[in-house]
Amino acid sequence: MNRTKNKIELITGLDIGSTAVRIAIGQQSFGEKGVELQIVGAVEVPAEGINRGSISSIEECVSSISNALEQAERLVGVPIEHAWVGISGTHIESQESRGVVAVAKSNGEIAEEDVARAVEASRTVATPLNYEILHVLPRSFTVDGQTGIKDPVGMTGIRLEVETKIIQGVTQHIKNLTKAVYRTGIDIDDLVLSILAVGDTVVTSRQKDLGVAVVNIGGSTTSMIVYEEGDIIHTAVFPIGSEHITNDLAIGLRSPIDVAERIKIEYGACIPKNISKKEMVDLSSVGGGVNETVELKYIAEIIGARMEEILERINTELMKIGRSGLLPAGIVFTGGGAKLSGLIDLSKEKNRLPASLGYPIDLVSITDKVNNLSFATAIGLVKWGANINQRGRGRQSRIKSVERVSGQVKNWFKSLVP
Ligand SMILES: Nc1ncnc2c1ncn2[C@@H]1O[C@H](COP(=O)(O)OP(=O)(O)OP(=O)(O)O)[C@@H](O)[C@H]1O
Ligand SMILES: [Mg+2]
Repeated sequence: MNRTKNKIELITGLDIGSTAVRIAIGQQSFGEKGVELQIVGAVEVPAEGINRGSISSIEECVSSISNALEQAERLVGVPIEHAWVGISGTHIESQESRGVVAVAKSNGEIAEEDVARAVEASRTVATPLNYEILHVLPRSFTVDGQTGIKDPVGMTGIRLEVETKIIQGVTQHIKNLTKAVYRTGIDIDDLVLSILAVGDTVVTSRQKDLGVAVVNIGGSTTSMIVYEEGDIIHTAVFPIGSEHITNDLAIGLRSPIDVAERIKIEYGACIPKNISKKEMVDLSSVGGGVNETVELKYIAEIIGARMEEILERINTELMKIGRSGLLPAGIVFTGGGAKLSGLIDLSKEKNRLPASLGYPIDLVSITDKVNNLSFATAIGLVKWGANINQRGRGRQSRIKSVERVSGQVKNWFKSLVP
């Protein structure tokens, strides 16, 4: 029997969110039936020390991550030594670039190395001083003037050009995140822009071809990614999330934050017009300690107003790229904030596009956490890792090498951590 053929690898996704640290663990088996990814465990612990996707206290963040790691290790019964780590936050920016190289072989046949060199050449854009490149994503290639080529390997030409999308983040934030993870004693497979991993997990390539936006509504941020013709055409992270809704409710109902949070989760809805004025909720039922009743309609008015603001921000981003109301596969929502009832209908109405909830596709799972929208990022990171492993096995990891991240920062920290 060929042992390597049936080798099983564990892949860990670590999502450090503003409300929770989540870990998902996947097992990839390269068996007779091809490659299969199975989610074998998922855990979450409340997050401390993270604000708007960035770290506000390293100590607290380290302890939350360690806590999550311990739980995950107990669950799967083996130590976790490395993880694919999600990065997000409003500091992330993306920009277009291009790289040009001369094809190396004298017969003009384009090799993997030429592609890697072209992509590498596109890195030389003017990255602002305090920014670090996270991803260089090839979009399309041009060979001797023939544009729109997806995969030029094996073609013949003299001049190879690539259009790439460069995603970068503020060095300081990247360093803090890297530091917090290394302090827990695990290694980082790579830092991955969270919404990139989510996008690859919840929509099909057909949807990406048609044109689709994936939106993750988190606690303090909302991130989005837009695809068309299979390419990423836009990414954005903005600082409004579901915690803002909780805060609005706390103010509107004059109730403590944790009562407001429970009201949102248990009774929240986005569309007030379908609710009768007679429907009331007793605040004491959600631990308010106050004997007060509130109209459900009023709760939905408060939630709806903020949700509309989030939907407007999404539309503004779509307008920037000329796609407002123009994405045939519509908007796919994930993240804990997408669990509010009525979001899909409100989005269809406000943004004039199809809308749906996004659950991970193309994987099997022994935990029902795959059906929990809050786990989309952690699971997306596992899938991202699995894809890179797979590509690495097939074509000598050219994509891995160009998508590799923050090498300098990582090595710098490794040299500090004993
Ligand atoms: N059943 C539910 N109904 C409504 N809202 C919910 C529900 N479950 C969770 N939420 C909300 O989802 C938000 C958290 O979402 P998520 O866990 O995706 O965020 P995060 O990843 O921690 O934050 P971020 O991505 O901003 O760093 C919280 O504000 C929470 O109130
Ligand atoms: Mg999140």
